[in-house]
Amino acid sequence: MEIRDAGIVVTGSSSGIGLALSEALVEKGGNVVGLSRRKTLIPAGSGGGRFRSFQADLSLPEDIAEAFRRIREEGPPVDVLVNNAGWGEFGDMEALPRESWEGMLAVNLAAPFFAIQEVVTAMKKRRRGMIINIASIAGKRGIKGAAAYCATKFGLVGLSASLKEEFREHGIRVSCICPGAVDTPFFDTTSIQPEKRMDTMAVVNAIIAAIAADDDILHEELIICPL
Ligand SMILES: NC(=O)c1ccc[n+]([C@@H]2O[C@H](COP(=O)([O-])OP(=O)(O)OC[C@H]3O[C@@H](n4cnc5c(N)ncnc54)[C@H](OP(=O)(O)O)[C@@H]3O)[C@@H](O)[C@H]2O)c1
Repeated sequence: MEIRDAGIVVTGSSSGIGLALSEALVEKGGNVVGLSRRKTLIPAGSGGGRFRSFQADLSLPEDIAEAFRRIREEGPPVDVLVNNAGWGEFGDMEALPRESWEGMLAVNLAAPFFAIQEVVTAMKKRRRGMIINIASIAGKRGIKGAAAYCATKFGLVGLSASLKEEFREHGIRVSCICPGAVDTPFFDTTSIQPEKRMDTMAVVNAIIAAIAADDDILHEELIICPL
């Protein structure tokens, strides 16, 4: 898909991978809408595209519904949805507060499900669309001390695999990206501190390659790790 002038929603645009991705997509001429609780600050004049952001708490289904109502009203039509927002809390499973379990499930797994519901009907009508879910290596391998986070990311990998089959006959591509450790504020407050971390651009470049592929080519699932 041509990125120039494409309507692209990036969740979790205020930080880390989502912020770097939003900047790169705007530079390539995309018409980008970011969603996150904090305001997303993209340097003015950072490219040929446009950027707007709406503040939304994606753990709340009503915030998701309201954000996509505004996007439908104000445009652009959504060609690409990148479900990137997410967070992790680690440690022994018996010590994990119930709110953390519910919070990770809500943002990492339920929010992508609801966001896809918001965009897929229009994508089917236009026979054009792409959904990219940012899962994790924690969605492919069990990690000690990350039971809840892994459960949400394995769920997102499963959701992606199933929707890939459901949507392909409608011309809608579903990709799932599974990064290993990336150098972002994600780890600012976590008990797990990976030694080797990739630059955010490693993941951003993979997402851009998946979007920019020919419309009849699908980058199904990609695991990217530091060597
Ligand atoms: N960093 C890594 O090593 C790594 C590895 C594999 C996968 N991932 C995944 O990559 C994605 C991005 O992570 P990152 O490393 O870029 O982390 P980050 O720098 O902490 O960014 C996380 C983003 O998610 C948003 N977010 C979190 N909770 C939200 C909520 N309730 N409502 C709306 N937005 C919310 C945050 O925005 P607000 O705080 O403004 O709401 C922020 O923009 C996540 O899904 C993460 O699981 C990260």
